[in-house]
Amino acid sequence: MQVVEHISEVRAVVEPIRRAGKRVGFVPTMGALHRGHLDLMQTARRECDFVVTSIFVNPTQFAPHEDLAKYPRPKERDLELCQSVGVDLIFYPTVDEMYPRGAVTSVYVDGLSTVLEGAIRPTHFRGVTTVVAKLFGIVSPDRAYFGQKDYQQQLIIRTMVRDLDMAVDIRTCPTTRDTDGMALSSRNAYLSPSERTAGLCLSQALKRGEQMAADGVAPDVIADAMQDQMEATPGVALDYAVVVDPWTLTDLTTPQPQMVALVAAHIGATRLIDNAIWGAPLY
Ligand code: PAF
Repeated sequence: MQVVEHISEVRAVVEPIRRAGKRVGFVPTMGALHRGHLDLMQTARRECDFVVTSIFVNPTQFAPHEDLAKYPRPKERDLELCQSVGVDLIFYPTVDEMYPRGAVTSVYVDGLSTVLEGAIRPTHFRGVTTVVAKLFGIVSPDRAYFGQKDYQQQLIIRTMVRDLDMAVDIRTCPTTRDTDGMALSSRNAYLSPSERTAGLCLSQALKRGEQMAADGVAPDVIADAMQDQMEATPGVALDYAVVVDPWTLTDLTTPQPQMVALVAAHIGATRLIDNAIWGAPLY
């Protein structure tokens, strides 16, 4: 496994591989890797000839009051984990490498970036789409792998790829969960044992909602029930619990064959999100 810091080094490694007709898979991450990331890398390993991972805590997707400074950066452990699942190349750039002085261009997906996570974190998705567009330009992958855990993020990235004619196939992989249903997230590391127990209310609300959807209950009634259930959990400050159209993210009032439920809450100082796709698989 090679570890490089410079854009020119990534290109020098990847270009001959692409020229040889090999399929390049890419898993962008911010490090602090967990089983969810490793599942993405293993899927890329199975489907591609060469697997690239980037580890970059992207400052432009954090608001000034968010956790950029304390975001975990366990470099050695992350590199070992990547090695253990057969990643071929790690791109581990500095902030200056990604955002040299004078960089003024950004990529923004209008509409979808303004709702749900975007309403609460107004600058977040511009940072995500800008860095992902840059990473796609650097790595030139055939396929890029994202977790369903960040449903809105992967939808926005798919929209960017479609609108900007980027030649990359986006793969969305199922959320990896602990045995009790908790979605894996790098931010789970911030939770105390009692906060982690409270945090289970996200996946539990989604489970109950899924049952209600199977029973034909209207999506807006399900959303209300999920909100009530989460708000009744001590230590939980609800941001949202909604049932939306998978492509437009607009609230639903009547059931449709495919729906997405999205939940977000603060548990103490930590913000958690989770979601579920109801109906036929989307991806
Ligand atoms: O999901 C993440 O870890 C980040 O948002 C991403 C896609 C690596 C961009 O920084």
